[in-house]
Amino acid sequence: MKQFVLLFIWLAALLIAWRSGAWSPSDSDSSESAEMSTHDRMFHMHRPLHDGGKVGMSGQYHLELVSHADGNHRLWISNAFRQEMDPAGFSGTLTVQTSAGSAVPVHFNRVGRTKELTANTERLQGQTWLVVDGSLGNGTRFQNMKFFWDYDADSGLLVPSLGLDTMVPLPVDNTPTAARVSLGKDLFFDQLLSTDGSTSCASCHRPEYAFAEPDTVSHGVGGRPGKRNTPSVLNTAYYPVLLWDGRHTSLESQALAPLLHPDEMANEDEASLVERLEQKYGQRTQDTMGEPLSITSIAKALACYQRTLFSGDSDFDRFEAGQREAIGEAARRGRTLFFGSTGCGNCHVPPLFTDFEFHNLGAGWRGTGDDDLGRFVVTGEQHDIGAFRTPSLRDVARTAPYMHDGSIGTLREVVEFYNRGGKANENRDGLIASLGLSSAEIDDLVAFLKTLNGRENASSQWSAPAEANGGSDL
Ligand code: HEC
Ligand code: HEC
Repeated sequence: MKQFVLLFIWLAALLIAWRSGAWSPSDSDSSESAEMSTHDRMFHMHRPLHDGGKVGMSGQYHLELVSHADGNHRLWISNAFRQEMDPAGFSGTLTVQTSAGSAVPVHFNRVGRTKELTANTERLQGQTWLVVDGSLGNGTRFQNMKFFWDYDADSGLLVPSLGLDTMVPLPVDNTPTAARVSLGKDLFFDQLLSTDGSTSCASCHRPEYAFAEPDTVSHGVGGRPGKRNTPSVLNTAYYPVLLWDGRHTSLESQALAPLLHPDEMANEDEASLVERLEQKYGQRTQDTMGEPLSITSIAKALACYQRTLFSGDSDFDRFEAGQREAIGEAARRGRTLFFGSTGCGNCHVPPLFTDFEFHNLGAGWRGTGDDDLGRFVVTGEQHDIGAFRTPSLRDVARTAPYMHDGSIGTLREVVEFYNRGGKANENRDGLIASLGLSSAEIDDLVAFLKTLNGRENASSQWSAPAEANGGSDL
């Protein structure tokens, strides 16, 4: 089926090229293009011809841009068959856009009599959109063609999936590179990080459960139970506050906690951890992170990896992007309830379905004095007793059980809990009150929640590394 679609597209491109006379003999003098087989033409229309190239199309023409951190940009134009063309007729500019705004556009200039055009900008820092505007002598226009510059054009890191914010906040002192991400990934799945070789980050944050886990509360080294349910680490690149009580504000600082926590990886101190990892990761960390192996450099690498774990492109995102049939009727009714009368969307705000605020619903509250005090532990404010950070609802159908203590087993039970108005207690949030939903409406809300499962992102960062270690190195 896919082949037929591609064949059709190829034939259509052939027809257009032939009719507009673009396939003239003078275009076919590029030896690189001439060597392309029919197969290449059919199946790799958007494949870059240059290392690290990003390809965009306007009509039958392709633009290929290669950008470097030092601000040097190279551009080529090719026709429907990816034959690079003489760029004499091209006039265009490049604009660097960051979250701080747009720089002044710079012009592309031809390099001698070659087919290459160049432009020079300021050094590229942080995430950046590179916007090309221009036109060919024949009237073809390239308008506002946006290319995402993500530090490492080859690996396609940090390219958020559909529905997520395209700008990922990054710390200035921990730039993700392919090598750092790969080191972080190996560490994330390595049980050598725990004292007895039993527990990796992935033991609790399990890829098959959207990086959460099915246990009520987590269990660390020696099966010791923690107090809270394991949240997903997907999309945490965007989180301004981490953990159920918002104790941490960066992935770099958060990663230190499980490494040293007695109920998690139980390392007594940094020295013993570094000693255990030195042989396997010492040199690699020095080479990759530019600093010696330490709890800080480990945490930085882990953060780089976690920043590549996106989850978007859900049925909900496709629906919002205009594919009306992406979600069924029950889910559509549920969507209306969610963003309307029930008020769910006031706290679970898209795109991540959280407001990153702390609310008390009374979930798991017993009032017996040994309750988890939640946000109060961080602020000491009376009104924060029993308040927890609104969790993201992305992939929520994969992350049962629910709430900070895993006390609710299914999505239907969660909605029933809201329908009752949560659990009454002194600090219950003003937005929580009984809803009077019918059983059918509850089903509709559940159907909506199930549309939030993401699809694995293209770089397949979710799967364990091939040689994931089972503690056998010990
Ligand atoms: C024993 C199980 C366990 C292990 C091992 C573990 N975690 Fe967690 N993780 C949890 C639990 C439970 C929480 C929530 C704790 C809280 O809110 O107090 C959490 C929270 C997080 C969060 C915050 C997510 C959010 O929604 O704010 C991140 C990020 C994270 N862990 C990363 C890691 C990394 C990196 C490692 C390995 C170094 C790791 N975890 C090891 C159980 C575990
Ligand atoms: C006042 C803000 C607020 C409103 C309104 C709200 N939620 Fe929540 N939601 C939260 C908080 C906070 C939690 C976590 C509470 C805890 O663990 O104690 C939560 C937890 C959840 C969870 C469990 C997620 C997980 O990973 O454990 C689901 C599912 C959920 N809410 C769905 C809904 C639905 C559906 C509605 C509307 C009927 C709704 N929420 C309304 C704040 C809110």
